[in-house]
Amino acid sequence: MCGIVGAIADRNVVPVLIEGLKRLEYRGYDSAGIAVVDGQDVRRVRRTGRVAEMEGAAAGEGFRSSLGIGHTRWATHGGVTEANAHPHISHGVALVHNGIIENHEEQRERLRALGYEFESQTDTEVIAHLIHHHLKQGTDLLQALQRVVKELTGAYALAVVSRKEPERLVCARMGCPLLVGLGEGENFVASDVSAIIQATRRVIFLEEGDTAEVARDRVRVFDADDQPVQREEHVSDVSLASLELGPYRHFMQKEIHEQPRALGDTLEAVIDAAGFEPSLFGAGAEDVLQQVEGIQILACGTSYYAGSVARYWIESISGLPCSVEIASEYRYRTVVANPKHLVVTISQSGETLDTMEALKYAKSLGHAHTLSICNVPESAIPRASRLVFYTRAGAEIGVASTKAFTTQLAGLFLLAATLAKLNGRLDAEQEAGYIEALRHLPGSVQHALNLEPQIASWAERFAPKQHALFLGRGVHYPIALEGALKLKEISYIHAEAYPAGELKHGPLALVDADMPVVVIAPNDGLLEKVKSNMQEVRARGGELFVFTDQDSNFGESEGVHVIRTPRHVGVLSPIVHTIPVQLLAYHTALARGTDVDKPRNLAKSVTVE
Ligand code: G6P
Repeated sequence: MCGIVGAIADRNVVPVLIEGLKRLEYRGYDSAGIAVVDGQDVRRVRRTGRVAEMEGAAAGEGFRSSLGIGHTRWATHGGVTEANAHPHISHGVALVHNGIIENHEEQRERLRALGYEFESQTDTEVIAHLIHHHLKQGTDLLQALQRVVKELTGAYALAVVSRKEPERLVCARMGCPLLVGLGEGENFVASDVSAIIQATRRVIFLEEGDTAEVARDRVRVFDADDQPVQREEHVSDVSLASLELGPYRHFMQKEIHEQPRALGDTLEAVIDAAGFEPSLFGAGAEDVLQQVEGIQILACGTSYYAGSVARYWIESISGLPCSVEIASEYRYRTVVANPKHLVVTISQSGETLDTMEALKYAKSLGHAHTLSICNVPESAIPRASRLVFYTRAGAEIGVASTKAFTTQLAGLFLLAATLAKLNGRLDAEQEAGYIEALRHLPGSVQHALNLEPQIASWAERFAPKQHALFLGRGVHYPIALEGALKLKEISYIHAEAYPAGELKHGPLALVDADMPVVVIAPNDGLLEKVKSNMQEVRARGGELFVFTDQDSNFGESEGVHVIRTPRHVGVLSPIVHTIPVQLLAYHTALARGTDVDKPRNLAKSVTVE
């Protein structure tokens, strides 16, 4: 949730920290701060609001140093105040933290009894005091951190500096991502590689329970038993272009427009091979996929809606039973597990805590067959899964997920088709037909993107509204859900989605001239049913905004506005129909003047429950 960056170099690292925090801002943007070791002192600057505000303050106070740490926060314990912003300091020890410490109350009592006073309401301040307490017992900073993490329960990524040890920073990881960046005569720590990519692409991903010492010319990593370990070095291929806005106004707009490319990249292997091969899902996938008798999908947010679309595909194409569940629900209920079912987690970031915990729970129930659909290589969820399919959307920065969603759908479609092939339910002709449809998909998505001016004109009418209703049926019902989610999260208009057939069981009572009703109405077998549902809305004075296909033969009339997406693309239609609802949300948010990429109260990467 929060973003961490740290650096030690021969040069002034303040610009590195600030630049890194700006790149990490998508992880949380309530407040930001840096601490640097300056001579015999630790200096800190913190501000509520965006990194840019803190940057101004740091410049004003002349911050310079070759060792420092920084943090951008998404508040959990304690409100959005400067006192709660990181870094937290205890007697010359400064610390930044991502995660939640569950036993902080107990540790707070212990520290109070030892004479420590608290300035903030955070769980993090406890860790700073604990480190200082251990330093007082004669340990060095690394040993102190290694002792303290054994006293913590919960999740953390930590980076720590001390005025007494100006030649290194130390860090630790459990349950939250943290990597070490390897430079020439300078080294870094960061929550993700985007923060340090301008300095280095060589990274070591810390494992659960690891601690590390990061000096200018040396990095030492220790496992959970404090034994020195070698962790593999990776070279990140994250493109700088994916982290920069370019000619776009917002990352969300850029990412919406990147979808033809993102889909093309994600589908490249299957289109080149002209067939659905189990190896798409990693080594040994054929063995695993051949054995599975059903699918259990677990995910949160937009990724959950991708799973909800996949259920329709998996059951209808592969004939396997499929259930989809919100990860935070699954992990806390008594589940009757069938170990012959494949557990599929879907996560853009690969670090959503509830999804990770749901996966661990599923494994504890005997699920050995696990597959992660993920957009971030080497992140925690794919690393905990037997099989992996990486979507190749590129870095997604806008908090509202767009290209990650459509590429997840592409990956899930490949799964449905691959399972069908293994089950003998996909003959060569059908396979060739699906491959052909996938080949045309980026083009169809581009056609849908070309509707932007028309959709923007609708957005003007949505902007003054308080509420909106989205309707869909069948495999397009989850697209209605995704459309409502997009609209509410970035424009703050209250939006709900319903299966159109359910309208008369409640939501019809809300329909009046002030409630725009968006309908996803492609030319599929349910179009006639959806038309009847639209009549129910019109009869109550509701205004309809309908997305339908070129070939649906569905016209405008009073109170019925229609935008035609490209010719019906068959089974891949939900992917194409996602584009207009993304654009509608984006332009409505623009018209309302909200902060599109950083909607209030939200964060992109949710590493807390
Ligand atoms: C947050 C993001 C959403 C995302 C959800 C799940 O709420 O704002 O865009 O869908 O987390 O994240 P994941 O990374 O697991 O897909």
